[in-house]
Order: sequence, then C-alpha cells, then structure tokens
Amino acid sequence: MIKNTFTLKSMKSKCLTGKLSVPADKSISIRALLISSICFGNTKISNLLESEDVKNTLNGLKQLGVKILKKGSQFEVFGQGGVFEDPQKEIFLGNSGTGLRLLIGLLSTRNVNVNFTGDESLSSRPMMRIVEPLKKMNVSLTHNNGYLPIQIQKNDGFFLPLKYSLEIGSAQVKSAILLAALNLNGTTTVKEKFPSRDHTEILLKYLGADIKKGKNIITLKSPNFLKPKNIFVPGDFSSAAFLIVAALITKESKIIIKNVGLNFFRIGLLEVLKKMNAKIDISKKKLINGELVGNIIVESSNLISTKVDSEIVPRLIDEFPILFVAASFASGKSTFKGLEELKFKESDRLKTMADALKNAGVELNLKKDSLEVIGNKTQEGGNYVITKSDHRIAMSMLIFGLAAEKSITIDDSSMIKTSFPKFKETMNIINASIRNVSK
Ligand code: S3P
Repeated sequence: MIKNTFTLKSMKSKCLTGKLSVPADKSISIRALLISSICFGNTKISNLLESEDVKNTLNGLKQLGVKILKKGSQFEVFGQGGVFEDPQKEIFLGNSGTGLRLLIGLLSTRNVNVNFTGDESLSSRPMMRIVEPLKKMNVSLTHNNGYLPIQIQKNDGFFLPLKYSLEIGSAQVKSAILLAALNLNGTTTVKEKFPSRDHTEILLKYLGADIKKGKNIITLKSPNFLKPKNIFVPGDFSSAAFLIVAALITKESKIIIKNVGLNFFRIGLLEVLKKMNAKIDISKKKLINGELVGNIIVESSNLISTKVDSEIVPRLIDEFPILFVAASFASGKSTFKGLEELKFKESDRLKTMADALKNAGVELNLKKDSLEVIGNKTQEGGNYVITKSDHRIAMSMLIFGLAAEKSITIDDSSMIKTSFPKFKETMNIINASIRNVSK
C-alpha cells in the first residue's frame, strides 16, 4: 500500500449532528463478488463497497478470467458457472483476510492453479485454520508453514464432503469450507461452537443453494448450480460503529445512520452499548436480499461500565477497538473476556489498542486474553498513536480524540481506505473535528 505524506489528527468536538449513510458492507461486498462469479449468468450488484480490500478481490476475479463491468453505480458480474482460467501471475489480496480466505475456499475445488500473496499484515496471519479443513476435502494446496504464499494446484481426483466442528468463532473459515463444498458430491456440515456472521449462508440461499441453518449447524447439499439475482449491499455496521461511539461520547450529539446492515451476528456492539446506558434506537427495519437493514439513531449518553463474556465475542469481533474507546469514557471498570482471536486480526488488536489507550492516559489491565478498562469521563489523550497499519485501530483512536482533552494524531492513515475510504469527510459532515496534518 502506498503510504500518504499526510496523516490525520482529531480534536475535541461536540454537537455531532446529521442524517447520513456509511459505506457499504465489506463482508457482503466481497461475498457478492465471489459468489456471483460462479452463478450461471449475470448478477447486478448495487452499492458495492469500493474500498481497497474489495478492489483486490475484484481484481483477483478478473485475473481468473471473470468479466466484471461497472455500469453507472452498479457492477455487473458475468458469472461463468464456476469455470476459471489459471491467472498469468500471483493473485495479491493486499490487506484482506476475508478476500483471501474466501477466494481460496471458492477456488479450491475448481481445478485451477493459483498462487496467493498479500501485504505484510496479511502475510503474518494464520492460514492453517483454512488449510486443514480444505486438505480434508482432498484439495491440493501448499503453503509457507501455515502462512502466505499459498498455492492451489489442479487436482484430478475428486473432492470430499466434510463434517467439520469449528472450535473458533470464524466466519472466514466457515465460509471457505462452504464455498469449497459447493462443487462436490455429497453433504457438508459445519458445526459452530461460537456462531459467527452468516452472510455467506444468506447469500447462498438467496441464489438458490441447497443450504440449511440450524442453531449451531449448517448443512449444504452439493453440487449446487447458482442462479443470478440482483444484490444490494447494505451499509457496513462495522463502519457505523465508529459514528455510533463518536455520538455517544461527545456532548449534545444526535445522528441518524441510514440503511445499515443489522445482521444478528454483527450487532453484538448494540447489545453491549445499550447495557452501558447508550441511547440508541433502530427504525425502518426491512429485509434486503435476506439481510436485515435499518436506520440507527444515536444520542450523547452517560455511559456506565460493562462486563463482556466470551459467548458474544464473535458477534462484535471487529468492534472491540471502538468498544474499548467507549469503555474508556464510561464510569467504572469494564471487563472483556475471551479476546484471543483479536490477536490474529490486521494487527494484534488487543496489544495495539491497549498500548494506544495506555499512552492516552487510560487506566487498564491487560491479561493474556482479557482486558479491564477503568473508565473516566475525562481522558487526557495528546498521544501519537502507533496503529500497526490497522484501519480499525486508526479510526478508533481518532474517535477517542473527539472526546479527549488533548488531540490525537495517528502515525499513518493510508490504510483506512481498506474499509472506509471517505472516513474523514464523513466525520466532518457530522461536525467531528478530524483533519489532515503533514507527517
Ligand atoms: C469476516 C470475519 C471475521 C472478521 C473480518 C470479516 C468475514 O474474521 O473479523 O473482519 O467477512 O467473514 P474471522 O473469520 O477471522 O473471525
């Protein structure tokens, strides 16, 4: 990723107001592209997120011979029923764990030779979690001791259905297995100990796959021949989360965020914040291509501390950095447990956030996989944040700066475009003081 010569700084703000939208959902955008590429016919996708992670997935599909055209604000994917060409060179997925793990799953049973690479962060993220189940399905795959680069090789043998018990709460692993299983003979089941986001299951069902969801088990009968249908991508709850917490912790604020995806497995943050006394309402709920969507109304609130246990963790996995910010400004001691998986994100989010908050003057106790945050209405701030090139750390700490006594500057802001390309502009629209400063 090309780094900017400028970065971002946030300053104490109040009266955040406005009715606005957030960028489209990254998880659903990536799935919409991948799954429509194997449909028999063309799919039109509206409101696709045009962020770096999604562009890398889209370019990967083009390298595999899939035609994708942008027509006005829509993308048209020319589905080839699952036939792909061997790419001329490696497929580079940049920073995107979802793009990489799901594309590997999708291609693993499609008889192509592909070499996958990624940026420094992606190259340090564990891949055995997908390699191991895919190998059990008879996929030919090589890897660098469980890390990138990974190669899929053409395999003339046949692929095997799988009965898999997933011990970690990971939608990426679950999705890689389901996408691989679309193209074999037999029934694949994934049992989830900690159920995670089900966008893959919802989209597969919408496009005609023979898939059933029980409470903790997903059953997919294969092979599947998917039919194209129009897809609308809702707003990303994980991006909305930054605006929600910004409105809660600044004075005299009230914002309405329109058309946000409210998938049950994504909105654990709302449950936690409501218990913390947050004034949050949902209106205009509707279903769009199987996904629940609605408006979120948020007002400044006097937050109180909370306790978060392991069971809910997969339902707010990407929102912990911003939740730690909310807890910093809540009265009392908040406790967060079962945070092991945070160590394997774009950075070790547990340590990166704990360091950033500590440097901002927040009292906290970091243990192996838990964190205590001792909140206070007044927090010092004034620090320079080491983001470890992690977009969610960057945005979370900028939001911290909106309520802190002294401004917050981050070391780099270029990676924010992986998920929220117009973050600064969107925050400025609602009155939040975030501006460019030279490095
Ligand atoms: C995602 C799943 C989660 C999440 C990531 C997006 C997805 O990762 O953290 O940002 O779209 O499936 P894990 O499956 O590794 O928990």
